[in-house]
Amino acid sequence: MTTRNDAMRLRFAELAAATESALADCFTGEAPHRTLADAMRYSLCSGGKRIRAVLTLAFARAAGGDERSALDAACGVEMLHAYSLIHDDLPCMDDSDVRRGKPSNHIAFGEWTATLAGDALQAAAFERVLLSPLPPGRTARMTLTLARAAGPDGICGGQALDMDAEGKELTVGQIGRIHALKTAALFKACARMGVESAGGGGALADAAERYAESLGLAFQIRDDVLDAVSDEAALGKPARADAYNVKSTFASLLGVPECERLIREETQRAVDALTPELGGDEFLAWLARSLAEREK
Ligand code: IPE
Ligand code: IPE
Ligand code: MG
Ligand code: MG
Ligand code: MG
Repeated sequence: MTTRNDAMRLRFAELAAATESALADCFTGEAPHRTLADAMRYSLCSGGKRIRAVLTLAFARAAGGDERSALDAACGVEMLHAYSLIHDDLPCMDDSDVRRGKPSNHIAFGEWTATLAGDALQAAAFERVLLSPLPPGRTARMTLTLARAAGPDGICGGQALDMDAEGKELTVGQIGRIHALKTAALFKACARMGVESAGGGGALADAAERYAESLGLAFQIRDDVLDAVSDEAALGKPARADAYNVKSTFASLLGVPECERLIREETQRAVDALTPELGGDEFLAWLARSLAEREK
């Protein structure tokens, strides 16, 4: 008998697989610098969970649109995410040697190639979104949404605050702001882009963003908890990396039980944001609850 949980898991797997196959032949063709293209592929197609792509596609459907038309946006989002991980692992940032169970990009290809692979993936992300088979107005809105999430008011701003904070003890409010920028901003952009791909905006996009903001915050708190309590074999990336880099995290400041409470609270907030206009979407509610308990 198929349980509700199995059905939701299957839907996640289908959306992730659609993304995976759309990404499979990226950067395989003629290239001026073969190793650069290989380095881009190495991090793009290396077994990420594809949560951001799934979010984008799920919101396209929840807003009454067509998942296939949102697939380019979902691919663009994964390219941007892959770039952010390559740069996050560089020796000048988190100095992390393992990602997704393999040597980090700069370990496999060297530092300058990894830096350029990240740069090129970021440019390719915007190119991919702009190639969406949607009316130009929708494509333009999605591209703007992604640009805002990537820049100084999103990932880059959050990553700069995160780096600046090494060795300092932050307040919960300061860490929350870093998490909102470095992680939740892209989650919010995925949700909004999904809605925008369906021609939606206004209250619908606002509700989608509220869901994704809470989901993103819960996701990063869970990441910090796993860093503190799990191991490299389970995570596919080094554990205790935050302590090694003397980062203040929710886990270091509040302890694991309080983090678990906050994750539950933010997850409920995400579920509560799923208004009737978003179909009270059962899959998105399941996604929030299952990410709250993820082990990797
Ligand atoms: C890792 O994100 C970076 C964070 C924001 C914590 P994911 O845990 O989604 O990474 P992949 O894509 O599955 O490897
Ligand atoms: C990184 O946060 C978030 C990004 C924007 C890449 P972390 O530094 O905690 O991510 P991991 O633990 O290395 O995946
Ligand atoms: Mg980091
Ligand atoms: Mg890191
Ligand atoms: Mg981490």
